Amino acid sequence: MELKNVLLEKDSNIAVITMNRPKALNSLNSETLKELDKVIEVLEKDSEIYAVVLTGAGEKAFVAGADISEMKDLNEEQGREFGLLGNRIFRRIEKLDKPVIAAVNGFALGGGCELAMACDIRIASIKAKFGQPEVGLGITPGFGGTQRLPRIVGVGKAKELIYTCDIIKADEALKIGLVNKVVEPEVLLEEAKAMAKKIAQNAPIAVKLCKDAINRGMQVNIDDAIDIEAYDFGKCFSTKDQKEGMTAFIERREKNFQNK
Ligand code: CAA
Repeated sequence: MELKNVLLEKDSNIAVITMNRPKALNSLNSETLKELDKVIEVLEKDSEIYAVVLTGAGEKAFVAGADISEMKDLNEEQGREFGLLGNRIFRRIEKLDKPVIAAVNGFALGGGCELAMACDIRIASIKAKFGQPEVGLGITPGFGGTQRLPRIVGVGKAKELIYTCDIIKADEALKIGLVNKVVEPEVLLEEAKAMAKKIAQNAPIAVKLCKDAINRGMQVNIDDAIDIEAYDFGKCFSTKDQKEGMTAFIERREKNFQNK
């Protein structure tokens, strides 16, 4: 598949995905969603990539939502299918076996905010703006917003944002825990890549298992969550990287992880 709306670059052990439809503020039509799906599939198979950064092309937008012109004339069944398409791909990002950092450079509205929330970590430029404007268009959030926003910022704040369609700036997003960090626009990508590189220095299988334990554990009761952790913790001891990490500590030398 030829990619034009979504770009993928690799830089040693990290990858950068760029949503690249700047004329339409990187909004998500089905073509763009399918390209994103393809890129995620490529990353799933790439055992040399340990962390991913996802950003938007241009100065203005991360992603300004699902494509309104494409959604306008959908019927009930087509609307549901479109929602399921976006949800399936965002879930694939959430379950990707490497951390994904959203570098939010501008508008992250509707499906754009939902895309950022499917990532593990969000770093925002001071110019970023977040919101779920769907009810103002006569729809509900459709790519996970009703489910991930309350899980990230709490039920009350999520309901306020979704019911009012308020658009919030980066400092407010930081205050409510929607983003991890706010930085100047010029250094956004650099900061996101630096964090990705920092993550990539650690044992990739252990990082992957942490993502698995946190994501799955947050959806179940604490007893089952502890079982998930114990299983993943045990699994680490079957890896060469666990032996390497602990041996290097004891021998007081640099570690050399191999993703094995
Ligand atoms: N869908 C389709 N096209 C979009 C778009 C979207 N979500 N957002 C922006 N665009 C297009 C505009 O139509 C415009 O195209 P033309 O130049 O061809 O007219 C271009 O991008 C530039 O946008 P604006 O001229 O509107 O730029 P602005 O600076 O005046 O405003 C904005 C920026 C406030 C982000 C405004 O574009 C806007 O409100 N966009 C829509 C945001 C939105 O409602 N998103 C939610 C969509 S619904 C959704 O996402 C459902 C879901 O949960 C899956």
